[in-house]
Amino acid sequence: MSRITLSRFMIEQQRKAGTLPPDLRLLIETIGRACKAISFAVNKGALAGVLGEAGTGNIQGEAQKKMDVIANDYLLDANEWGGNLAAMASEEMELPYHIPGEYPKGNYLLLFDPLDGSSNIDINISVGTIFSILHCPNGGDSNPSIEDFLQPGTAQVAAGYTIYGPQTMLVLTFGNGVHGFTLDHEQGSFVLTHPDMRVPNTTGEFAINMSNQRHWEAPVKRYVDELLAGVSGVRGRDFNMRWVAAMVAEVHRILTRGGIFMYPRDARDPDKPGKLRLMYEGNPMAFIIEQAGGKATNGTQRIMDIKPQALHERVAVFLGSSEEVDIVTGYHKQ
Ligand code: F6P
Repeated sequence: MSRITLSRFMIEQQRKAGTLPPDLRLLIETIGRACKAISFAVNKGALAGVLGEAGTGNIQGEAQKKMDVIANDYLLDANEWGGNLAAMASEEMELPYHIPGEYPKGNYLLLFDPLDGSSNIDINISVGTIFSILHCPNGGDSNPSIEDFLQPGTAQVAAGYTIYGPQTMLVLTFGNGVHGFTLDHEQGSFVLTHPDMRVPNTTGEFAINMSNQRHWEAPVKRYVDELLAGVSGVRGRDFNMRWVAAMVAEVHRILTRGGIFMYPRDARDPDKPGKLRLMYEGNPMAFIIEQAGGKATNGTQRIMDIKPQALHERVAVFLGSSEEVDIVTGYHKQ
């Protein structure tokens, strides 16, 4: 059987299920093209002079890596002229990016984290791009405002990520399951290799940055203590731990073999409800995980039900295998 490329998969979905409008398909293809360019740059690393600090900071007050800036530019350049977008927003930009006047505007809003886990880039460990696509409420007639972006995760029409690891893979949902495509570097196309990815309900693996333990709230301490107690504790079995420090890589592992990923709110900065960003990290990953049969909460509430208040809002994240997300969410509710 011939290989199913990303384009062919989406055209067939469009015909079969009628769930994928042509302009959304073209938008996802464009994002895929930008991710290929990012993948090639990440791959060349020091040979292309893309490692190290950019010498600038983003709106979150984080130092930007050169590759943060390059990946952001690739996504803006690829997506500004195609006529499918009303505007874009990125972790690396304080305000929405408006489509330049010379290009037509479309009906969608694109949000992205151009290079998630970018502290991994200099040490040759996986990084990724995360994206979320929304309808533009006013149909893209005028320049969208920040308020136009502030839609709950349930309003997403598509979401995905590209992981730049031993293989480059694009993992995608438009509300019809989760499908993974591996980049064939010789052919230059994403090929369907992981159709209908599912998160197992049960797991023996968890992911959390343990160095923050002393700052956690009581329900998280209780839950992780019980996991660490292993076979002699209330859970009656041993759990394994992993922490890659790139959410894309943790989510990819969970989609492949199950697990729970946690970045809780903690006492370091009481004004920040967690480290991760709702609009371009929490929501797209929650959409993907739910479409694969898992769950995603902020401890008390389904992430995708949160009504965003700000473009760069932060959120506590518990996502993955449903049994474990239910337990830790239950502890918060008690
Ligand atoms: O976007 C933030 C991020 O890099 C995530 O990809 C990752 O899960 C997390 O931060 C790692 O945080 P820390 O450095 O605190 O372990």
